[in-house]
Amino acid sequence: MSKNICFIDGLEGILKYRDVDINELIDLPYDAVSYLLIRGELPGKQELAEYSARLHAERGINREVMDIIRMCNLNIDAMEALRTVVSFISQFDPDLNDNSQEGNMRKAIRLIAVVPTIVAAYYRTANGKEPVPPDPSLSHGANFLYMIKGIKPDPLEAEIMEKDFILSAEHELNASTFSSRVTASTLSDLYSAVVSGLCTLKGPLHGGARAEVMTMLEEIASPENAEMYVLEKIKKREKIMGFGHRVYKTYDPRGTIFKQLSRRLAEVKGDMRWYSIAEEIENNVIRELVEKRGKPIYPNIDFYSGVIYKYMEIPPQLATSIFAIGRISGWIAHCFDQYEKKRIIRPRIFMLDEC
Ligand code: ACO
Repeated sequence: MSKNICFIDGLEGILKYRDVDINELIDLPYDAVSYLLIRGELPGKQELAEYSARLHAERGINREVMDIIRMCNLNIDAMEALRTVVSFISQFDPDLNDNSQEGNMRKAIRLIAVVPTIVAAYYRTANGKEPVPPDPSLSHGANFLYMIKGIKPDPLEAEIMEKDFILSAEHELNASTFSSRVTASTLSDLYSAVVSGLCTLKGPLHGGARAEVMTMLEEIASPENAEMYVLEKIKKREKIMGFGHRVYKTYDPRGTIFKQLSRRLAEVKGDMRWYSIAEEIENNVIRELVEKRGKPIYPNIDFYSGVIYKYMEIPPQLATSIFAIGRISGWIAHCFDQYEKKRIIRPRIFMLDEC
């Protein structure tokens, strides 16, 4: 198996999963990228067909799970419901405490397959609608949109959702992946490790930034207001959501792809409003923070993805959970790596000063 689950060059803006550049992966099905991350190499045609068939067969949720979803507070962020339900379903998995490679692979497939169904079922229930059962003939992205909206998705929107899951799938030792790895390092089960990742991804400095970007776009409302907004934020020394990154000190390659996709979507829809607001924010941030103050603050993955959700009419309450649907393959790849090490992660307190 290739050693690097992920490679990032934060100065050059390069991202690779298992040594394959993100720009080469972006047109593949999510299932192929998920396989690459977990198994270490891209699947052949037959392997992909088998992996997809196993994923598609595990998408359903049982009545007990639906009961728990209905018992959730229907005004919470979908991430909170997802965290609760993933924890709840672990008890039904016959392999829960089987940490063999085979047992872990079976759990991995069930988790990757079922997480989109949980998110969509919660979303529809919270909006007073009946859940839509998964369609095994659809791709990961298309099926998710179908389960949210209840109609077969527009092909461009389905393509963009698939790419969103790919771009969100893995990013080295970010905060949520670190959490998952710490849990796996104790030899706790894969569900627990995924719940740890979900809890950490939720924060607004991590996956939660995407929802904040959507709120910011609404607040700015028109491209003419973007400059004032950015100047005010800088004056108050507040963070502008969707900008900056601990590792990238140049353009985030995922952000660049999301920007192209959001422009394409805006043009096809004949509505440049959200894209233009975002571009104005970006231009002002680059001028004020990068050019005038020399700070390497560029759009990150959450910025133009927030624009895409505005066009696809995906509410902010779903934004972080969509990130989680993509990221789960990356968490699992790291957990598998950690299980092989059989060594607990236990940093000393002074190491935290470097964070
Ligand atoms: N807007 C304005 N200024 C910023 C921003 C921003 N988004 N990000 C960093 N800065 C400034 C800080 O104010 C600080 O300035 P100072 O040195 O004058 O005090 C400097 O840049 C360094 O900032 P830190 O917060 O120390 O950078 P760090 O690497 O710790 O944080 C982080 C990275 C958390 C992503 C930060 O840039 C941020 O909070 N961004 C906004 C939230 C966001 O978009 N998060 C999503 C990140 S991607 C992901 O997790 C999926």
